[in-house]
Amino acid sequence: MIHRKTKREIELMKEAGKVLADCHKELRNIIKPGVTTKQIDDFVEFFLEERGATPEQKGYHDYPFATCASVNDVICHGFPGTQKLKEGDIVTVDMVVNLNGALADSAWSYAVGSISDDVQQLLDATKKSLYLGIEQAVVGNRIGDIGHAIQKYAESKGYGVVRDFTGHGIGPTLHEEPMIPHFGEPGTGPRLKEGMVITIEPMLNIGAPFSIIDEDGWTARTVDGSISAQYEHTLAITKDGPVLLTDQGDE
Ligand code: MF3
Ligand code: CO
Repeated sequence: MIHRKTKREIELMKEAGKVLADCHKELRNIIKPGVTTKQIDDFVEFFLEERGATPEQKGYHDYPFATCASVNDVICHGFPGTQKLKEGDIVTVDMVVNLNGALADSAWSYAVGSISDDVQQLLDATKKSLYLGIEQAVVGNRIGDIGHAIQKYAESKGYGVVRDFTGHGIGPTLHEEPMIPHFGEPGTGPRLKEGMVITIEPMLNIGAPFSIIDEDGWTARTVDGSISAQYEHTLAITKDGPVLLTDQGDE
């Protein structure tokens, strides 16, 4: 069942999304060489608490942290840890904010200091693919239109599109129907309707699209060790087009 939200529910999710976007904007100043992903995680927890929100990921299916912190070849669901970030790394910070029971979900990849041109191009293309997917998130289109736009662009640049993790509906619970793959055929899948709230969160690899999971049961890496990036927004489908609930304003 695809749960459609009322205007009021969407308004509340937007308030959660504002806290989340503000937190990401703070991270721009915090992420630099020498910082550990555990320090980032601690900051996020502190920031959310200050704003009266809670980190929904913590305890979700026993996930132990407020954020996922995925460095370099980690695709997603990396554990925050005590290893220091180095100049030239990238780190994707993914978090879900719960504000008064309303959720918002957004991941962002950050450069640590200065990074190589190849990796900068990956970041740019991944972000661009997210926005191309969002453009397709209009009433009357189908889920496959979103994935197709992302895949077509990403593959035209030679990147692997991760298949094993997808976007999703989001509402009272974090993962709801429908699943939003970042690949697909136009005109296929469920139709997008007013009031649906979804995430779009493409993960692009410099190499092959395949993933393997570490022994911790969570950390997903590229099979070939290539670098992976991800950008994710939560958005509402409205009759006036897609409305970003996790917009950072200047991104
Ligand atoms: N934010 C992630 C997503 O986009 C959720 C990670 S699952 C968790 O769906 F268990 F790590 F929280
Ligand atoms: Co998500």
